Amino acid sequence: MKKDLISMEDLSVDEIKEYLALAHRVEATPEERRVKLLPGKIMAAMFFEPSTRTRLSFESAMHRLGGSVIGFAEQSATSVSKGESFVDTIHTVENYCDIMVIRHPGEGTARLAAKTSVLPVINAGDGSNQHPTQTLLDLYTIEKDLGNISDISIAFIGDLKYSRTVHSLIRALIKFNVRNYYLVAPESLRLPKYFMMSDEPDKFNFYETNVLEEVIPKCDVLYMTRIQRERFPDLLEYEKVKDSYRLTAAMLEDAQPHMRVLHPLPRVNEIAYDVDKTKFAGYFPQARNGVIMRQAILLKHLGVEL
Ligand code: NCD
Repeated sequence: MKKDLISMEDLSVDEIKEYLALAHRVEATPEERRVKLLPGKIMAAMFFEPSTRTRLSFESAMHRLGGSVIGFAEQSATSVSKGESFVDTIHTVENYCDIMVIRHPGEGTARLAAKTSVLPVINAGDGSNQHPTQTLLDLYTIEKDLGNISDISIAFIGDLKYSRTVHSLIRALIKFNVRNYYLVAPESLRLPKYFMMSDEPDKFNFYETNVLEEVIPKCDVLYMTRIQRERFPDLLEYEKVKDSYRLTAAMLEDAQPHMRVLHPLPRVNEIAYDVDKTKFAGYFPQARNGVIMRQAILLKHLGVEL
C-alpha cells in the first residue's frame, strides 16, 4: 500500500522514531552508497506557494539519492492559471513521477491530493495547517543538539496563529510527552486552543505571555517564527504586529548554556544578525538537517530499505 505523509496527527511516536533513526542512518551512509539508492525514480516538486528551503532541500535530497526531479515553483507556471482544477493537476502529474511533494496555500489540499492519487504524497505545507517534513527535521535537530526530545521545555515565539511549523511541531511534542510550553505571541496571534488539546490535559503546561525576555532563561529550545504576512486577511493588522519580537545576542545572556535558538526560516526581523555568531544559534544547521531528513522521507515513502 502506498504511504503518504500528510499530518503529524497521523503518526505514532514509534513511527516518528523510525524517521529519526532512518535519518541517522542516512547521515552515516557514505555518499557513494547513498547515490545508488533511488536510481530511475522521479520526484515531482509541486509548489503552489513560495519556498526556498523545503523545495531545494527536497530536490537536493532526491539528487543525493541518485533520483531525479521535475516540478514547478509557482502556480502561475502551471495550467491551474488557465483554470485547470487541483485534482486534474494531480491526476496528470502522477503519470510523470513516483512520488509527489506538494505545497499549497489551501488547508487540507495535501490530504485531498493523497486521496486523489495512487502515488505517495508528501505534504510540504498546507496553508497554516501542517508542515510534517519540517517537524521531522526539527525533531531530528532537537535530538541531535540536546540529546533527547521528551525532557525539553520549549518556547514558541511570534506568529503562533498562522505558523504551520508551530502547529505541526506542538502536535508531535505532545506525543513525546513534552510537558512545558512557553507561548510568546501578541494577543491577536495566539496559538489556537485546538493545538493544545490532548487526552490528558493535566499533563501539559501552556504558559502564555507576550514578554519574550521572561521565557529565555527557562527554555531549552527557543523556536522563533516569522509573522506570516501572506496569511493575514487584513494587512493593516499585519502592520500592527509585524515587529512584535526581535531576539538579539544581548537578550541571550541569561539563557541556559545548552539552549538552542531554532527557526524554520526565512527570518525577517525577528532574529538580529548578531545572534548568528552566538553558540545558541541552531537555525542554519537545522536547515542542513533538512536535506538529511528529506532523504530519509523519500526512502521510506518509496519503500527503499537502508
Ligand atoms: C516555513 C513555512 O513555509 O511554513 N518555512 C519553511 O518551510 N522552512 C516557515 C515560514 O515560511 O515562515
